[in-house]
Amino acid sequence: MKFWTTYDAAESERQKGVEEFYRLQHINQTVDFVTKMRAEYGKLDKKVMSIWECCELLNYEVVDESDPDLDEPQIQHLLQSAEAIRKDYPNEDWLHLTALIHDLGKVMTLPQFGGLPQWAVVGN
Ligand SMILES: [Fe+2]
Repeated sequence: MKFWTTYDAAESERQKGVEEFYRLQHINQTVDFVTKMRAEYGKLDKKVMSIWECCELLNYEVVDESDPDLDEPQIQHLLQSAEAIRKDYPNEDWLHLTALIHDLGKVMTLPQFGGLPQWAVVGN
C-alpha cells in the first residue's frame, strides 16, 4: 500500500514544471530563433571575465528550471562533473575543462547577458 506524501505532491509539481519547461522549449527553439541567437551571442560583446568569475556568477544568480532535482549549488555541480570526468578519463584534460564549463552559458538568463528565457538556454 502506498500513501500519498508531501514528497509525492512536491515531486508531482516539479514534474509538471519540468514538462512545461520542455513544452515551451520544443515550441520556441526554432531554426530562426537559434540563428538569431548565434548571430547575437557570437559577437562575444557582453562581458570579459574569467572562467571562475563566471562559475561564481552562476552559483549566486541562476536556478536551472529544467533540473529541479539539482538542489546543489551550481558551482558544486560544475566541480562534481569535472571531477567525475577526471576520474573516468584521467588523461583527457580537455574533457575535464569541458565538464567544468558545460553550464556557463546559463548566464544568458541574467539581465546583463540578455535575460533570455530559460527554455532558450538550459535543458538537454
Ligand atoms: Fe549541467
